Amino acid sequence: MRQERQDLAGDPIDVAAAALRNGELVILPTETVYGLAADAGDPRAVAAIFEAKGRPRFNPLIAHVADGGAAEEIALFDDRARALADAFWPGPLTLVVPVRDRRRVCDLARAGLDSVAVRVPGHVRAREVITEFGGPVVAPSANRSGRPSPTTFADAMEETGSAAASAVDGGPCAVGVESTVVSLIGGKVALLRPGSVTREEIEAVVGPLDHGGEGHRSPGRLTLHYAPDSPVRTDVKTARAGEILLGFGPGVGDPRWSLSPTGDLREAAANLFRLFREADREKPKGIAVAPIPTRGLGEAINDRLKRAAGHIG
Ligand code: TXA
Ligand code: MG
Repeated sequence: MRQERQDLAGDPIDVAAAALRNGELVILPTETVYGLAADAGDPRAVAAIFEAKGRPRFNPLIAHVADGGAAEEIALFDDRARALADAFWPGPLTLVVPVRDRRRVCDLARAGLDSVAVRVPGHVRAREVITEFGGPVVAPSANRSGRPSPTTFADAMEETGSAAASAVDGGPCAVGVESTVVSLIGGKVALLRPGSVTREEIEAVVGPLDHGGEGHRSPGRLTLHYAPDSPVRTDVKTARAGEILLGFGPGVGDPRWSLSPTGDLREAAANLFRLFREADREKPKGIAVAPIPTRGLGEAINDRLKRAAGHIG
């Protein structure tokens, strides 16, 4: 009986791939955050993502592929792009490179740009869905626009699950912050969004990063982003009455609300968005966050904190 029911429900990977082929949306686990996925070449399906997230259409999506070969079918890689792909894929690095195949990653997915953001996710379930589907899959974080990215299956379902025809549970996301985004347009290498592949790790492969400039904007980096409902204050050593303090390191705040009791940046990144959501549910006067070191992965954590607090334009 149980066996029969399983057959009826089908293997979640097959069900997800079938939904993508059908032009439907899928909740996709990745190692960074959960995504809301669609066939990158289907403008109607891609439009449904923008609709479900309330995302402005000028903000392009990341095309997820199964391996470096599939990436080079849709985009043009120079030596430095290839070196970064070889060093960090599969994994939490997105490369912005010139588009090669404008049909398989449609205009709407790229927000009309001549470039495309590509990554090979580290999560094996994500790659299984993409391989079974057989083409590039666009997947923004599965939150509604402006809210913290979901890092658990339950949080993803709560955010945009109602818009998805199928959902794959990949467990809690190991990394917890979105991928590092690096642009390689116009012969420059620029960091558009810090993530768990650090600035230092990228520079070890391609040398010093450029400062960006024209052509190196990331259209999606809105002022208030990754924000819970409660007001956020950063670099706080003591909470005010009614605030929840997210601590970092030994003896800072209530251990229940600590990003990492031992002061470990990887653990803090993995806990950040989940603790934002859990703190929000308590309806505090505010969420205060202890100082986090800015080195390594700390750059990405501090970037998300500043945006949650509305400190970046
Ligand atoms: O970890 C991640 O990257 C997750 C998981 C699901 O893979 N996805 C994710 O997607 O964070 P999203 O859509 O929330 O963020 C994509 C970022 C945005 O800041 C967007 O503006 C930027 O990548 N982006 C995409 N295409 C771009 C392009 N052609 N040029 C510059 N920035 C681009
Ligand atoms: Mg996002």
